[in-house]
Amino acid sequence: MSNNDFLDVVVNRRSIRRYKDKKIDRQEILDILNLAVKSPSSRNMQPWEFVVVESDEAKDNLSQMVYSNVQQIKTSSFALIIFSRQILEDNIEVVAEGEVVSGNFPAENKDEYVAYMKKSYASMDDDSKAHIATFDAGLLTANFLNAARHFGYDTNVIGGFVRDQVKNAFAPADNLNPAIVISVGIANEEGKTTYRIPAEDITKFV
Ligand SMILES: Cc1cc2nc3c(=O)[nH]c(=O)nc-3n(C[C@H](O)[C@H](O)[C@H](O)COP(=O)(O)O)c2cc1C
Repeated sequence: MSNNDFLDVVVNRRSIRRYKDKKIDRQEILDILNLAVKSPSSRNMQPWEFVVVESDEAKDNLSQMVYSNVQQIKTSSFALIIFSRQILEDNIEVVAEGEVVSGNFPAENKDEYVAYMKKSYASMDDDSKAHIATFDAGLLTANFLNAARHFGYDTNVIGGFVRDQVKNAFAPADNLNPAIVISVGIANEEGKTTYRIPAEDITKFV
């Protein structure tokens, strides 16, 4: 059952920290992720990778690294760890090849594009790259929350985790840092409504 009501998806999303006992199959998880990766990213470098923590053993392991956020992890159908790729240029080749295969630009332009991008990233410092990677992971996160709701699931974004421990236990590669953890499942609580400062109070038109 998918929710195509954009306003309901966005307006009625709230952090859910207790879930019903339900497994979500891997294809559906990939379907949610394939919506999430529609997020924009700086120069389309898509500097993210995912680890789906779904087994009881892996959830138990992760739950020891999340301070007071244990219930969300333990009751979730799965927890998603979004890793951000600190070296943005690592994805140039794979993105260039994908653009060619998708027909977005001609094969003969690929080498020139790759060379241009590599040169451009060579002059960028590591802090700027890390900032971009983290920012892009944030955009992906917001998209993921809404994509999950489209599929009927709720979420809790969890920034409270021990970064080194999560990196050591779950990172697919050393140049990937855990940006955020998100618990996902079918809500087993209402969730609290939370206040938003009205846009009128925080917006200046110039
Ligand atoms: C970057 C980030 C980190 C967060 N970390 C936690 C966390 O560690 N534990 C938790 O219970 N909620 C966490 N939250 C959820 C926020 O508390 C929540 O989004 C906020 O209070 C607004 O409530 P809502 O999500 O229900 O709209 C985090 C949210 C964000 C965006």
